[in-house]
Amino acid sequence: MESMNVKDFKGKKQSASRRRVLCIVISLLAVFIVAIILVGVLVWKFSKCGDNVTPLSENFRGNMTFGTTTEIPRTTTDLHGDGPWKNLRLSRSVVPIHYDVTLYPDFYENNGWFYGNETILLNVTEITKYILIHVNYLNITKTHLRYNSTGTSIPIEEPFEYEQNQFWVVQTKTPIPKGTVIILDLQFDGSLTRAIVGFYKSTYINHDTNETRYLATSKFEPVAARRAFPCFDEPNMKAEFTVTLVHRHSYIALSNMPVERVYVHGRLYLGGTRVE
Ligand SMILES: *[C@@H]1O[C@H](CO)[C@@H](O)[C@H](O)[C@H]1NC(C)=O
Ligand SMILES: *[C@@H]1O[C@H](CO)[C@@H](O)[C@H](O)[C@H]1NC(C)=O
Ligand SMILES: *[C@@H]1O[C@H](CO)[C@@H](O)[C@H](O)[C@H]1NC(C)=O
Ligand SMILES: *[C@@H]1O[C@H](CO)[C@@H](O)[C@H](O)[C@H]1NC(C)=O
Ligand SMILES: *[C@@H]1O[C@H](CO)[C@@H](O)[C@H](O)[C@H]1NC(C)=O
Ligand SMILES: *[C@@H]1O[C@H](CO)[C@@H](O)[C@H](O)[C@H]1NC(C)=O
Repeated sequence: MESMNVKDFKGKKQSASRRRVLCIVISLLAVFIVAIILVGVLVWKFSKCGDNVTPLSENFRGNMTFGTTTEIPRTTTDLHGDGPWKNLRLSRSVVPIHYDVTLYPDFYENNGWFYGNETILLNVTEITKYILIHVNYLNITKTHLRYNSTGTSIPIEEPFEYEQNQFWVVQTKTPIPKGTVIILDLQFDGSLTRAIVGFYKSTYINHDTNETRYLATSKFEPVAARRAFPCFDEPNMKAEFTVTLVHRHSYIALSNMPVERVYVHGRLYLGGTRVE
């Protein structure tokens, strides 16, 4: 009797779990069908735009973050043909040694932009023509490459963004030999209000005065550092950083390391004392 009950119970459990599995399969199928229809509608809508590839607006890209829409940027980025940018992972032929990053967040009043520049010291560990660096939702306005030893410029092709894998692709005219230490200089800007990851604007209310206060904050894990500044955004590509934050006098800059130096109107202060 008891064993019957147990069997019964197991049986019921099995069929219950079978039902549950079925429900999941059905709902997955439903999602899949909706996805196919959605892609169909999108493809149809876009093909109505004619043969010219119309860039999607920022808003639209922001709204459509689920998997199926990644198909769309491919049409624009495939113009670049095949190359190492098609690999999702970075090669280790160029590794960062040190980043010198300057960020100028403009989060005051209703503003929500930031500007930045950086110089990255790189070690070329295998002969290569390519430097791929992660970037997402940034406009890179200047790219320059030079030798660390002499400071001489290294001629490069027109750099481009391979959006699909979030790469900024820098290609040199001639290969750089293994063992060379080079410097990549980049200038960029981005929005502080597009998301709450990367580098973004936050607010809080001071309950003593009911005043709304603004701040610019960062959240980089797991892959959002590339939204704040171009970087080799993989955990095995560690490097040292020097970070400079430019801000109004009445604001405070915080980091996970102590302040090294402070400039006020171009004058250097160390430990609160003016030295220059
Ligand atoms: C989607 O985009 C529209 C503008 O196209 C915007 O008004 C809306 O807030 C966005 N929705 C989300 C969830 O980001
Ligand atoms: C960024 O640009 C400013 C102004 O041109 C310059 O003083 C600074 O050295 C640059 N910083 C980096 C890290 O390139
Ligand atoms: C560059 O990489 C090579 C190979 O990993 C290493 O032996 C060398 O010490 C590195 N150079 C610098 C300056 O980090
Ligand atoms: C970069 O160049 C400077 C100046 O020539 C030199 O002191 C430094 O050791 C070089 N760094 C590397 C990692 O080679
Ligand atoms: C990039 O630049 C374009 C045109 O100058 C601008 O419309 C866009 O908002 C910028 N995007 C970012 C993320 O800075
Ligand atoms: C702040 O706002 C709350 C609710 O709006 C109000 O109850 C409180 O008195 C205000 N405090 C001050 C200091 O104005």
